[in-house]
Amino acid sequence: MASLTVRKLDDALKASLRLRAARNGRSVEDEVRAILREAAEGPAATPRAPEVKAAAMRPERTHAAAGRPRVTLIIGGGIAAYKALDLIRRLKDRGFHVRCVMTRAAQQFVAPLTAGALADERCYTDLFDPQSEFDAGHIRLARDTDLIVVAPATADLMAKMAQGHADDLATAILLATNRAVLLAPAMNPLMWANAATKRNVAQLARDGAHFIGPNSGEMAEANEAGLGRMSEPLEIAAAAATLLRPPPGPLTGKHILITAGPTHEPIDPVRYIANRSSGKQGFAIAAAAAQAGADVTLIAGPVDLDDPPGVRVIRVESARDMLAQVEAALPVDIAIFAAAVADWRVANAGEQKIKKTAQGMPPLQLTENPDILATVSKLTHNRPPLVIGFAAETEHLIDNATAKLKRKGCDWIVANDVSPATGVMGGDRNTVHVLTRADADVAIDSVSVDSVSVDSWPVMTKDEVATALVAKIAATTGHPPA
Ligand code: C5P
Repeated sequence: MASLTVRKLDDALKASLRLRAARNGRSVEDEVRAILREAAEGPAATPRAPEVKAAAMRPERTHAAAGRPRVTLIIGGGIAAYKALDLIRRLKDRGFHVRCVMTRAAQQFVAPLTAGALADERCYTDLFDPQSEFDAGHIRLARDTDLIVVAPATADLMAKMAQGHADDLATAILLATNRAVLLAPAMNPLMWANAATKRNVAQLARDGAHFIGPNSGEMAEANEAGLGRMSEPLEIAAAAATLLRPPPGPLTGKHILITAGPTHEPIDPVRYIANRSSGKQGFAIAAAAAQAGADVTLIAGPVDLDDPPGVRVIRVESARDMLAQVEAALPVDIAIFAAAVADWRVANAGEQKIKKTAQGMPPLQLTENPDILATVSKLTHNRPPLVIGFAAETEHLIDNATAKLKRKGCDWIVANDVSPATGVMGGDRNTVHVLTRADADVAIDSVSVDSVSVDSWPVMTKDEVATALVAKIAATTGHPPA
């Protein structure tokens, strides 16, 4: 049997073998063995590369993007491709969900496995990938995103784009997309200055592409410098964020604070007192307010819900934690207290797990929690101009809510019937009545201090309630949409 020494191969072949091996997660020797086996027995003889296996085992995690702006990063084949790996992290730092696509040439510089691991989702490379192409995957990849970033955008890739080629996955996505495209060119200064590149860049700009860079500086090639360096990952991420910024809405410029969900009050390190609040209504209000352009801080008790898009979410456990975070978030323009805060906590919570004993049940002493809504409503300094509370009642809804509005000192109360038959707790629908103190409508002339008006809304989904409440807030305090 002939033996072969990898050391004796020429450098270019060794380099490409090393890259191939790294891409497939094998040693160089194993890669050579795989190549020989394939040559002798056909491709089916070689076990599939770990990248493909890992991807096959991992479900498509489209839900991972829930609520986050989605960026598809197309990595072109240039030496700056290594910087695209850092760019993945920078985009993620800004809260974007990142999905990577690599051209064939890009795979000579960085491994899809690395990009996939950093992005937390498999990296797409093939137009004819049986795993994703069965449902016209390139069309889905082109649309299932909010922005496409091409980095590095090589001269060749831009030439193909300008001509409308679609002979690989990257160009097919770029041709099929109707989303904004941000190009980060990177190439040798002479290539950038070439008349053909200039024509292509001008054409792409006319077609609506956005550009960041290139910068001026040293090239990867020795003794070469000039205009052509890819912009730094931080610059590209900032340009992407600017393109993803939502258009101004009726609540742009307003800071809204929202509490949501239940609180957990410890009995000991492993047990707690809680309630059935799902947090859905508060989260829906936060999403609707952000959609309307508000700067939203959501302080949420323990719930199983994803962060709403564009919302700053602070997760807390107990009522006292919630109050501390609410106070830290002030001043705000509008505060909405949708949390089902536990009224009591255990005064004598155990430092260690309380043991069952023959003496019977442990005597739990309850003490009252701070009332966050009442505390904020009664502030003399930093009281938000509009404070909205919730009243979840099981009987005498309007009477109890009216009394609560006055007792707590807030401006509006959103009252809902949560008796078990309504299915409101944990469900997706809600029937609410909005009680307003006539003197609290800042945009409307005050009528009389104690008069309360009741606005009864039909049964709606919690999302619809959120949209209606945000519209009412905008009509009262914001700027109506242009
Ligand atoms: O008194 P009750 O719990 O029915 O009041 C409900 C309203 O008060 C809700 O807006 C709730 O978020 C708020 N609340 C609070 N802190 C508490 C109890 C209730 O902010 N400790």
